[in-house]
Amino acid sequence: MCHNRTCKKQGAAKVLAALTNLPVPDVTVTASSCLGQCGNGPMVLVLPDMVWYSGVQPHEIPLLVEQHLRCGERVKQMLYYRFHPQG
Ligand code: FES
Repeated sequence: MCHNRTCKKQGAAKVLAALTNLPVPDVTVTASSCLGQCGNGPMVLVLPDMVWYSGVQPHEIPLLVEQHLRCGERVKQMLYYRFHPQG
């Protein structure tokens, strides 16, 4: 997930903490540099799926972890509209 300046201002540290609190086997959580989508953060990019989540809030992390990282299903209501316009 992005941990650069703009996303940090938007609360990336708490989102990263929430993610690292819910570890998933075979999934690595990394604080990245800017993902080029400043202003829409905190931004989370799931690889290799290439699924983007924008404006991610700490309270949404349990759902993201359970539904996407554990079950492989996108969380439609959290998707980044610019790259996933159809949801
Ligand atoms: S600072 Fe997060 S996308 Fe640029």
